[in-house]
Amino acid sequence: MENKRFTIDSFTKSKKEGHKISMLTAYDYTMAKLVDDAGTDSILVGDSLGMVMLGYDTTLQVTMDDMIHHTRAVSRGVKNAFLIGDMPFLSYHTSTHEAVKNAGRFVQEAGAQAVKLERGSEVIEKIRAIIKAQIPVLGHIGLTPQSVNVMGGFKVQGRSQDQAAFLLEEALRLQDAGVFGLVLECVPEQLSKLISAKLSIPTIGIGAGRYCDGQVLVIQDLLGMYKDMSPKFVKKYAEMGDGIVQAVRSYKEDVEKSRFPEEKHAFVMEDQILEKLY
Ligand code: KIV
Repeated sequence: MENKRFTIDSFTKSKKEGHKISMLTAYDYTMAKLVDDAGTDSILVGDSLGMVMLGYDTTLQVTMDDMIHHTRAVSRGVKNAFLIGDMPFLSYHTSTHEAVKNAGRFVQEAGAQAVKLERGSEVIEKIRAIIKAQIPVLGHIGLTPQSVNVMGGFKVQGRSQDQAAFLLEEALRLQDAGVFGLVLECVPEQLSKLISAKLSIPTIGIGAGRYCDGQVLVIQDLLGMYKDMSPKFVKKYAEMGDGIVQAVRSYKEDVEKSRFPEEKHAFVMEDQILEKLY
C-alpha cells in the first residue's frame, strides 16, 4: 500500500480525528528509509544522536554541524514522514538572531520541515521568531535532557503540585506562541492526560504514559540496540543488538574456517587471460 505524506496539517487533523501520531528518531539514511517505508508519521533527528550514535554520556556535546550532517543523511531517505531537526544545546540560547539562523540551516541545508526546541518561557521569544521566519516548531517540556546539569540527572518531572502547575502553564504558553505540537518527556501520565486535554495541538509522549496524542521513541531503544541505558518507558520490539552480535560472531567464525566467501560470492575471469599472466 502507498504511504501518504504526513504534513504539518496532519498533526492537528490527527488530534481532531483521534489518530495517534507515531514518531521515531533516525540519524542516518538507511534507518530513515526503513522507518519511513514502515509508514511512521514523523521522524525526529534527535540530539539523542550524541548518545546513541556518537557515544557521549549526555546530549550537551552535540553541535549544529553534527545535527546538519545527520539530518541531511536522514532527509535523503525520507519520502512520506514529516521530518523534524532537533536544535542542539547552545544553538538557540545566545540570541534570537542566532536561533533563527540555526533553525534556518535545518531547512535550507538539511531538508528538515520543522525544528524542535527544549523548554518553554526561557526560549519562547526565540520560538516566536523562528515561527515568524516560517519554520514550524515542535515544543518539548518535562525532562529536557539539555538541562541535565540543572535538573541533577535524568529525572521524572512534574510530580509535585508546583511543578505540575508550572508544566501545564508552560504547555499553554507554548501553544499560544504557535508550536504545532509538544513533546512531553518523563512526566506522570495523569499530568500528560490533563495537558493533552487542555491543548488543541497534539502532545507527543516519551515516558509520559498512555494518554498523549502520539508517542516518540529512540529507534535504537525500540530495536534493542542501545544498551548503555534502559529506561522504564521503553518497549523493545526486537532484540537486534543480540541479533547483530550473533551475526558478527557467525561471520568471524566463517572467515576463520574458510566457509566465507563461497564460490557464489566470487568474481571470475577468462582462463586464456589468466594464462598470459603466468
Ligand atoms: O533527542 C531526542 O531524541 C528527543 C526525543 C527522544 C524526544 O528529544
